[in-house]
Amino acid sequence: MTDVARSAKLTLDGKDYTLPVLTPSAGPEVLDIRKLYAEADVFTFDPGFTSTAACESAITFIDGDLGELLHRGYPIEQLAAESTHLELCYLLLYGELPNAAQLADFTARVTKHTMVHEQMHNFFRGFRRDAHPMATMVGVVGAMSAFYHDSLDINDPWQREVASIRMIAKLPTIAAMAYKYSVGQPFVYPKNSLSFAGNFLNMCFSVPAEDYVVNPVLEKAMDRIMMLHADHEQNASTSTVRLAGSSGANPFACIAAGIACLWGPAHGGANQACLEMLREIGTVDRIPEYIAKAKDKTSGFRLMGFGHRVYKNFDPRATVMKESADEVLGLLGIENNPTLQVAKELERIALQDDYFISKKLYPNVDFYSGIILDAMGFPTSMFTPIFAISRTVGWISQWKEMIAESNQKIGRPRQLYVGSPKRDYVNIRNR
Ligand code: CMC
Repeated sequence: MTDVARSAKLTLDGKDYTLPVLTPSAGPEVLDIRKLYAEADVFTFDPGFTSTAACESAITFIDGDLGELLHRGYPIEQLAAESTHLELCYLLLYGELPNAAQLADFTARVTKHTMVHEQMHNFFRGFRRDAHPMATMVGVVGAMSAFYHDSLDINDPWQREVASIRMIAKLPTIAAMAYKYSVGQPFVYPKNSLSFAGNFLNMCFSVPAEDYVVNPVLEKAMDRIMMLHADHEQNASTSTVRLAGSSGANPFACIAAGIACLWGPAHGGANQACLEMLREIGTVDRIPEYIAKAKDKTSGFRLMGFGHRVYKNFDPRATVMKESADEVLGLLGIENNPTLQVAKELERIALQDDYFISKKLYPNVDFYSGIILDAMGFPTSMFTPIFAISRTVGWISQWKEMIAESNQKIGRPRQLYVGSPKRDYVNIRNR
């Protein structure tokens, strides 16, 4: 949106500069500082990009004060209740909900691409068995550009499309292979008669020695987990994908960069860290000790699964995730799961505490997801890979949107230099 009817004035050293005000379709207005350096010879300073819009995007909108998340305008609660992950993938990629024929065609295209190049099996075998599955995924997804040479040309819209479908389809296979490799079991090929989520569960949990039947409750819950993580506008990993892609790097390399960024505990790694924290707390009587530790700045400890850069009211994904946790554990007959009890009590106590209230810290999407994944039988090390396969569609949609822009530029932030000014080299004999 570039409605420049309004403008802001910046006065520096007695000279005025006009900053056009851009009007978005929703959310705060945006000051356009693109010409500021050329005209005023100054940079803006915003570490962590807390006040900086780095791109235009029509994919996802978050209102952090209202606790609202919209994909192409549709609220996440409605999508989670009524849609499916593959339908959401279509919506994110192409902008509109598909009709029945479009969804069937898209599902068939994704399903056709679920297998990975057979040579990749050898590639996996080069990793240590005890490697974290995220480490394996960064490597294997990056290596896709060595296997799929016919979809590397980012200037060809058809190749971009093929690469996109390949990644949505193959990431679950790769994550499941990383898991199977880590537990010393044979890889399980995808089964195209199963749903997207059902196929992933089958690739993770079936073994050649016996039949595995996908539990429909877990299949639905997995599909919902995928939907709740599918996209989240310009978060750290998505911005990483955009930055990598802005140089013209191939799409597989860009998504590998996104996976690497997602791994950190402040981002996608929080789901693993959160369940580990809940288990460490163990019993509700130990909660006050951990609350005190989280409030103590010298402890270096944070309540994992709490807080968000954008949500300052509640994270709507966490609300759906909590309901899902109750549903799944209830249906599995393990509603008295001690970790769920600790999580609920921790949430209750934290939400009454002035520290968390004043800093607007609420449970985020990662607070309850680990409890569901644990109940499904996943080890904690698989939580972040599951986030990665879910977010793949978001990364790709954002990457495609960026590549298609006519005025796309390489991302190149500037800096506030605080190092030594120019000085002369001193020969080592004289130092
Ligand atoms: N526990 C205790 N204190 C916290 C927490 C927490 N989880 N999160 C933020 N704070 C405090 C922080 O110490 C700071 O206090 P002060 O103003 O006194 O210095 C204040 O709240 C603001 O924190 P911040 O680090 O400046 O906020 P941010 O927007 O840069 O960070 C965050 C957001 C998500 C990284 C952070 O809340 C956090 O580290 N949470 C724990 C990790 C987590 O759950 N991450 C998953 C995020 S949602 C899924 C995803 O995006 O991947």
